[in-house]
Amino acid sequence: MIPQTFIDELLNRVDIVDVIEKFVPLKRSGANLSACCPFHEEKTPSFTVSQQKQFYHCFGCGAHGTAISFLMEYQSLGFIDAIENLAARAGVEVPRDQRNDRADQQRDSKDYFLTNSRAASHYKRQLKEAPNAIDYLKSRGIDGNIAAKFLVGYASDDWQGLNQEFNDYDDSQHLLDVGLINDKDGRRYDRFRGRIIFPIRDFRGRVIAFGGRIIEKGEPKYLNSPETPLFHKGKEVYGFWESRHAIRQEGRILVVEGYMDVVALHQKGITYAVATLGTAVTEFQVSRLLKQCSDLIFCFDGDSAGRKAAFRALESSLSQIEDGRKVSFLYLPDGDDPDSFIRAHGREVFEEKIVNATPMSDVLITELTRQSGDLESVEGKSKLASLFKPLVARVKAPMMKKLMTERVSRLTGLSIHDLGIDESLGAHKPVRRSLENRSASILSSSRVSSAPSVLQHLIEMLVTFPEVMRDEDSEQLKVLRPNLQKHFSSVQFDALAEILNLVGQQLNQAEIIDYVRNTGLEALVARAVKLANIRYQRGKVEVESVRSEYAQAWEQLHRLSRLNLQKELLSKTSVSSMSEEDKARYRSLTQRLTEPKAD
Ligand code: UTP
Ligand code: MN
Repeated sequence: MIPQTFIDELLNRVDIVDVIEKFVPLKRSGANLSACCPFHEEKTPSFTVSQQKQFYHCFGCGAHGTAISFLMEYQSLGFIDAIENLAARAGVEVPRDQRNDRADQQRDSKDYFLTNSRAASHYKRQLKEAPNAIDYLKSRGIDGNIAAKFLVGYASDDWQGLNQEFNDYDDSQHLLDVGLINDKDGRRYDRFRGRIIFPIRDFRGRVIAFGGRIIEKGEPKYLNSPETPLFHKGKEVYGFWESRHAIRQEGRILVVEGYMDVVALHQKGITYAVATLGTAVTEFQVSRLLKQCSDLIFCFDGDSAGRKAAFRALESSLSQIEDGRKVSFLYLPDGDDPDSFIRAHGREVFEEKIVNATPMSDVLITELTRQSGDLESVEGKSKLASLFKPLVARVKAPMMKKLMTERVSRLTGLSIHDLGIDESLGAHKPVRRSLENRSASILSSSRVSSAPSVLQHLIEMLVTFPEVMRDEDSEQLKVLRPNLQKHFSSVQFDALAEILNLVGQQLNQAEIIDYVRNTGLEALVARAVKLANIRYQRGKVEVESVRSEYAQAWEQLHRLSRLNLQKELLSKTSVSSMSEEDKARYRSLTQRLTEPKAD
């Protein structure tokens, strides 16, 4: 891990103007310097650099940051590489903090990234020497610029092509671990042979895996890297890195199915296209993409397989949608995919389809109606209601939920209450006697006024002392979340979940700050870091005391969750009419609530 103090010191030493001027000609204008933005296309300059603040900002596309982030973006460097690059300019050595084994793990994964990026360069060089591969790309309408943007390469038809690049081919564990080679009875050979190579990058631009398309005949058509320490299929999205500026500028993301679709769409000017690589869209992917923009469009074939895939994407979106965000679906004519469609009809026709894509709620109702049969019949109506209820139960966005339910209510004649919306929540509950009254007073006295800050507090501790995180925390948060909805906003939950995820991936504070730059989390994380710096100064506060504070905060969440569960049980029924099982649950909850608190 690189100490934060070193990073701060480094940023003090170098001048952002020198760094940027090497790549972009800057003109003085008033207190700042300006240029045409290197991150998006423009004719009049809206990119400014402040020497005083040591910051750049583009008023056109919103790109902004420090010298470190400039290098990361402009030269597609990882965080560590950008720092090393700057340190070399400043003539200083990057110190490594060997505090714990986190550093080792990080070095390990850094080596994996390096292995992948060397392999990508190797494949790229091979492409230059393979006229058949270049012809193939040309025949599919891909030119050199777009190929370079996506780091497209070629794996020659050799069994051990990669040993040209890796001297340690025969004993490198890394090559095996990242899935670039296989080992059969002690003989090693390349995974990718005779294929066009599409490197897959993560959300920070680092190569984490590869996809290879066969040129000649053969199976499978596409071969992908296996799951590796760096690559988890259901979490990654192909083309995000290459689309990031357009996504920010256009405020939308088009999700398609294949590598070639993404590349062809970019070639034709739709540069906010990404792909899920032939697997069903996961909630994780939807959540990641919806953090980047508020408008997500899925594109599928118009055939029945496409409709099925669309419905699965819809199911993954239900729990992730928020009011004010939009998920919609675009269907292509039967027999077309995005690649063939845009080549035949061009960008404008395609973008018109994007604008007219069908909103998620329409797709949901249409699909369920289709499955329900005759809606004039009682059977049809009840089928629709029973299909709808479990799906709408996943929706957390209150308005979306209500509006969708109202539509099904009109179709079935059932009330929105029958369809699962609890109109009475918190409102006119009949007052109950004795036991209930007692717990009612427990409940009201426990409306902990500081509750909304618990999640923020956890984030503060995590960004300063990542080592306090425990393996089970992410899972715990998922379990607790449904019972704590009314105490915290979904933004706060998502923020904590993301921070846990990032800390789990061994990112340090500076990397987390960099990672969330320009996302919805930026302000929240900045605030947490600021507060944490006041509250927990490394060196002045004992890790162990933060650890116990951290555990207590989780305990507080558990307590709140138990209270809510108890309340829910009570609202279902009066205690006397509870089933024996519920009574037992109720007693045990009450007992735990009235136990003296540990703190
Ligand atoms: P398609 O079969 O629709 O291929 O697979 P495509 O994208 O149209 O490819 P071209 O145009 O023939 O080159 C869609 C996606 O499914 C995954 C790949 O990610 C592919 O881009 N896939 C497909 C595989 O992983 N393996 C396969 O054998 C086929
Ligand atoms: Mn295709």
